[in-house]
Amino acid sequence: MIIAVDGPTASGKGTIAKALAAHFGLPHLDTGLLYRAVGRQVQLLGGNPDDPHDAIAACDFTESLVEDDILRSEDVGGYASRVSVHPAVRHALYERQRAFALQESGAVLDGRDIGTVIAPEARVKLLVTASVAERARRRWAEMTGRGIDVALSTIEYDIAARDARDMNRKDAPLMAAPGALVIDTTHFGRDAAIEAAIEAVEHKLAR
Ligand code: DC
Repeated sequence: MIIAVDGPTASGKGTIAKALAAHFGLPHLDTGLLYRAVGRQVQLLGGNPDDPHDAIAACDFTESLVEDDILRSEDVGGYASRVSVHPAVRHALYERQRAFALQESGAVLDGRDIGTVIAPEARVKLLVTASVAERARRRWAEMTGRGIDVALSTIEYDIAARDARDMNRKDAPLMAAPGALVIDTTHFGRDAAIEAAIEAVEHKLAR
């Protein structure tokens, strides 16, 4: 059984994917981390993420980079979004995601194009969303909680820019896959969002 969880940044898709993996006993892959590793590698090489040559050169990142906490930063997220526009970067990361999806055990993958490109045959497809204002508030609360001094308006601006790039790129834009169930977490706390997702999956499996 493959469960595809797509959605924009700070929608709660990662939390939901992790919880579904634990609930159904499946391995989980956060595919954004792969794009973040490429973005980080461009940074380390002093390259330009908008230049396809620099971005492709960065696909050859070392495995340990994927574990690095710095990948979670906003800065690296912006680089990840920029390198992910290049079809050759998406192509370079495809096999690894596809192989993860096809494991015999089944799998949960979260990202932007899991239900459309990586695993269009997924048994269950979820699109997790929330308003830009709410996603910005969550990211702001998380960052200020970590002692990072940042204005809510800056975060909101960055999130809107990232959404626009992820939804408007030509290759594998973020969109609802055919048959995807939409879960809007704007008015949900963490537990309610997880519960709604588990219910949605169980409902789908019962059919
Ligand atoms: O989910 P995230 O915020 O960690 O993803 C970072 C960036 O990586 C995101 O802005 C777009 C890109 N990405 C993608 O293009 N396709 C995926 N399956 C996952 C992430």
